[in-house]
Amino acid sequence: MKPEEARSVHQIDAVVVGAGLAGLRAALELARNGIEVAVLTKVYPTRSHSGAAQGGIAAALANVAEDSLELHMFDTIKGSDYLGDQNVIELFVQEARKTVYDFEHMGVPFSRTEDGRINQRPFGGHSSPRACFSADITGHVLLHTLYEQCVRHRVHFYNEFQVVSLVIEDHVSRGVVAWDIRHGGLHLFHAKAVLLATGGYGRAFKITSNAHANTGDSLSLILEAGLPLEDMEFVQFHPTGLYKHGILLSEAARGEGGYLLNGKGDRFMATYAKEKMELAPRDLVSRAEQTEINEGRGVDGKDYVCLDLRHLGREKIMDRLPQVWELALNYLKVDAIEAPVPIQPTAHYSMGGIPANIHTEVIFNASGDVVAGLYTAGEASCLSLHGANRLGTNSLQDAATFGRLAGGRMADFIRQAGFSSLPANPLDRARDRIGHLISGGNGRERHALIREELQQNMTRHAGVFRNAEGLKQLLQTVRELQERYRNVRIDDVNHPFNLDLMEALEVGHLLNFSEVIVEGALVRTESRGAHFRTDYPKRNDQNWLAHTLAWKTDSGVHLNHDKTVVIYMDRFPPQERKY
Ligand code: FUM
Repeated sequence: MKPEEARSVHQIDAVVVGAGLAGLRAALELARNGIEVAVLTKVYPTRSHSGAAQGGIAAALANVAEDSLELHMFDTIKGSDYLGDQNVIELFVQEARKTVYDFEHMGVPFSRTEDGRINQRPFGGHSSPRACFSADITGHVLLHTLYEQCVRHRVHFYNEFQVVSLVIEDHVSRGVVAWDIRHGGLHLFHAKAVLLATGGYGRAFKITSNAHANTGDSLSLILEAGLPLEDMEFVQFHPTGLYKHGILLSEAARGEGGYLLNGKGDRFMATYAKEKMELAPRDLVSRAEQTEINEGRGVDGKDYVCLDLRHLGREKIMDRLPQVWELALNYLKVDAIEAPVPIQPTAHYSMGGIPANIHTEVIFNASGDVVAGLYTAGEASCLSLHGANRLGTNSLQDAATFGRLAGGRMADFIRQAGFSSLPANPLDRARDRIGHLISGGNGRERHALIREELQQNMTRHAGVFRNAEGLKQLLQTVRELQERYRNVRIDDVNHPFNLDLMEALEVGHLLNFSEVIVEGALVRTESRGAHFRTDYPKRNDQNWLAHTLAWKTDSGVHLNHDKTVVIYMDRFPPQERKY
């Protein structure tokens, strides 16, 4: 069969792209509203990366200490380095409790207090224990429970379907085109409403906590559709990535009392955040670690420091942190009960993404005009809830809450909308791309080598610390790799399970949005949250209390940073950020 033929055309009210927490929660809400919904996912749903989130889901339940919505809101705003939109943050904290109780009613096995309430633990940057958890497998249990509920509500799953293009014309979303990985072939999904919830893009970096599937596909497809991305310069580096592997060791380890030690055996956070110590926000802790390493105080002079859990004792480690213990043992042969675990900062989360308003509707300009029928939620989106830096456990809550709200909003839209007509050749873009990779012309480039070079350079020059020289060099490298990518040729020309093709597509996505990350980081001549410029080490509210929007055209990335109207800061004006 030729790739240009659509194997199948589906007409369905709602399409959700991505089966992580945001996608599944939206799908469930749509199904609860009686809407027919298809979920397209390139991996089996319960393998989605939300399942790797460990430490908890934030909500001011005040089950173990005093807490309030006001405090959750303030912590999130301060954590965002005042770039988060305060109207979005206010809605988020209000809805967070409802989201957790809804999970409880679905049967999520939360860890409990002695008197049977949902237990809560401390997390970085939160001033009260606010993380509702299930040992250190919180994302896993939420994802599995949601999947069960989706199956129960007869959500249609298209597993191992890779979305290859968005069908958008005249700022109206009309559906998506996807490749059926198992059998090969293109499918057209004609829908009234589409939700993009494909998660993060950590795989643009060499050291990352993200799964192999986290290649930011929908961000790249948005750029290709002529739409902008927002605040892409803000990439979160989690302080406790397993040394060399980058795999997440939950912040819960520090929430439960773990220490960070440098090569001299000192709890070095005392130098950087006297009050909060290891529970300062991630941007600050990652910078502290990298500074220790850069100044020669890593362990044995190497590029790592240690997470020390020994004083917690076997019982607490095995009860609260069994996965952290197991990961250290399996990957580094370190028994955390007996020895400190080598760790380093790891690319973990994207604060930027697909720009959307408070209703999760995708916007296409600084005035906030929306693409009709197109929605986004979870890590792929930028509402902007997390601003320049996200607090731990706010992401599962973000995905679940805004997934739920997106589902409700889409249901309202679908009830009053008809199917928009399809453009003349909706498969063209997908067909051209796949055809080019499969036939390859005379190309000799290997996508795996291009990916490796990209990842190495992104970690080196767009990591915890950045400067103009490194970023300019990186930009040139990304552009050279984009040129080389045009000559990529794959070996496998078969259609079923062509993972060579899938990976080649993903490398194209990584190259597409990485250019925006680097341009954004170069243009933003200040340090704010996770974006730290050694040549501009101070926050600059006068010029930079603003989001960036970036479009890609044939002549490169065009950035605009006058989206100031969208920064709502009516409640808490910017202050100096100390912990
Ligand atoms: O450290 C963690 O358990 C990760 C949580 C998060 O990113 O929210």
